[in-house]
Amino acid sequence: MGRGHFITLEGGEGAGKSTQVKRLAAALSARGIEVVQTREPGGTPGAEDIRTLLVTGDLGRWDAMTETLLHYAARRAHVEKTVKPALARGIWVISDRFADSTMAYQGYAGSVGREAVAALHKLVLGDFAPDLTLVLDLPVETGLARAKARMTGTGQAPGQIEDRYERMGLAFHESLRAAFHEIARREPERCRLIDADGNPDQVAAALWQAVATRFNLPA
Ligand code: TMP
Repeated sequence: MGRGHFITLEGGEGAGKSTQVKRLAAALSARGIEVVQTREPGGTPGAEDIRTLLVTGDLGRWDAMTETLLHYAARRAHVEKTVKPALARGIWVISDRFADSTMAYQGYAGSVGREAVAALHKLVLGDFAPDLTLVLDLPVETGLARAKARMTGTGQAPGQIEDRYERMGLAFHESLRAAFHEIARREPERCRLIDADGNPDQVAAALWQAVATRFNLPA
């Protein structure tokens, strides 16, 4: 049995990644491909605990390097315990966010810098990288409005709401969008920029097109 393929979905807030991860997994399953859906930060019980530390609470709760190290601690656990074992068994893995998020949020838009994030990646994961990365792109205002609508009515107590990054200013989110464009531009073999400003059906069709082309799957 061959190794499975590792697909990541990336993008700013409110791009619809989690909906699209489910839809892509369903489309692959319908073609007889075994799939694991996962997410970052998270994807193992321990990494989900680290997620809570990262996505809730005060904006300034972590200095930038500590935050980056927490993302990489969670990622290492996720890759070792969930991603690599599944790939080795021939299962495809679809992750809602991966290393490009750290490069964009902490490396480009945050203060840690690209070189430090790249060096940390090399130390923690070596050359391990997704086979295909789908970067969902949409205007910042649209994404933040969607993310805000999603947060209201979750029933989560204040302090438990997963909005720590959404609360960062508009300028942060604009530089994030530019960062994802730049990442996609620098690695055209691995990355596809997908217009996510349409309805979920349109976005799912664009994603499927990219996946089917990359892996020679029947439409
Ligand atoms: P989510 O809202 O897509 O579930 O992601 C959780 C938040 O964590 C999101 O606002 C982006 C942020 N994040 C980083 O800042 N760096 C990372 O490496 C990852 C994986 C996520």
